[in-house]
Amino acid sequence: MGKDVRESDADVLSGAVGVGLIGFGTIGAGVAKVLRDNASVIEQRLGFPLRLARIADLDLETDRGVDVSGIVFDRDTEGLIADPAVEIVIELIGGYDVARRFMLAAIDAGKHVVTANKALLALHGAEIFAAADAKGVDVAFEASVGGGIPILRSLREGLAANRIESLHGIMNGTTNYVLTEMEKTAEDFDVVLKRAQELGYAEADPTFDVDGIDAAHKLALLVGMAFGAKLTYKEIPTEGIRGLTPVDFEAAEEFGYRFKLLGIAKSRSEGGEERIEARVQPTLIPSDSLLAKVDGAMNAIAVHGNAVGPTLFYGAGAGELPTASAVVADLMEIAREIRRGRAGRVAPLSYAPGELREKPLVPLGELEGRYFLNFTAADEPNVLAHITGALGEHGVSIESVLQKRSGEERGSVPVIVLTHPAREAHVRAALEAIDALEDVTAPTRLVRVEEEL
Ligand code: HSE
Repeated sequence: MGKDVRESDADVLSGAVGVGLIGFGTIGAGVAKVLRDNASVIEQRLGFPLRLARIADLDLETDRGVDVSGIVFDRDTEGLIADPAVEIVIELIGGYDVARRFMLAAIDAGKHVVTANKALLALHGAEIFAAADAKGVDVAFEASVGGGIPILRSLREGLAANRIESLHGIMNGTTNYVLTEMEKTAEDFDVVLKRAQELGYAEADPTFDVDGIDAAHKLALLVGMAFGAKLTYKEIPTEGIRGLTPVDFEAAEEFGYRFKLLGIAKSRSEGGEERIEARVQPTLIPSDSLLAKVDGAMNAIAVHGNAVGPTLFYGAGAGELPTASAVVADLMEIAREIRRGRAGRVAPLSYAPGELREKPLVPLGELEGRYFLNFTAADEPNVLAHITGALGEHGVSIESVLQKRSGEERGSVPVIVLTHPAREAHVRAALEAIDALEDVTAPTRLVRVEEEL
């Protein structure tokens, strides 16, 4: 445990801004390391130091590999929030209820808050941002999307002059690792997921990652930042990667595409009304696109602005030091504003309070594009004719067809179709008819192709 050393008077003299950390896990330890190891560059950039004054965590025993001497380290979160030596509170415990309570208590006490908690903000962001606005304090959360990639700051500042037209992001490292490995090794999803868990990429309960929920949390925040649209992650159509098989990867490669779990958001203005396209789903993208080259656990987000054109942000989306890099950048931004007497004026979602609007979502049925369809068909005469016939009846034209030798079930074969551009509602109507055919033995897998990234 660290010594209880109060330095608030010294801080005033040195101009240091005091910071309190709630949650001393992997990222918390990273924050302590970056504050300590990079103290001189941080001070050179700010003109004054940042001082980690207090840490609160239930576990006071585990050695995190970081020296906590000179830091008050105990279980007292209330004391940390109330401590005048703490001007900025970092919330790194994750989860919903307790984290929400701590954040609101810190805001109520007039403290600025830095967090990496995308799950909380993607659900309760409106409440937290309104509370911060009422109190005139900042809430910053760069680490919540893309780990160490400064994507939120880039949207809020570097790209602030643009109307954002689209963004496409690989925002979950676990799933990107699994997809990259499945493509490379032709192994089944379960085998690769198990390896990801053994290597520490995937959680013991990987649901949030593999079912796309973590990416939907992140996309909800990006949609606010990019388009000023109020959205919770629950409104975003979300599909994970569990259904994909080695045959899908083999066929995708033959068609010239790669699978990526993408968070996609676009702004569409028609007849004076702006609507937002937002979805998380396994997507086929051209193998020669930049995003297709993002492998393993890395993240990347492509943003298209109407003035800047295409931009691409790439880096580590998770991990101790990359995530801490983003947390400490937020601390520095807020500390600078505190010293200038202007804190509390940074709009958390990059639009002035009151300018965030409800914007309707484009229904998936209205989307148009190419579709990759994997049918499981009985290996009998005429089956292909039934499938192509049903697609034709719904106005869906075929670009390529592949029939693979090995079936996922006995007596069945995968028949894989790449369509010409079609409206999704028509494709879905065709699939309903096809999946009702006797010689189609399992539900068809549909994956959207995204050509313009
Ligand atoms: N579980 C996330 C991922 C990292 O796999 O990318 C934290 O956002």
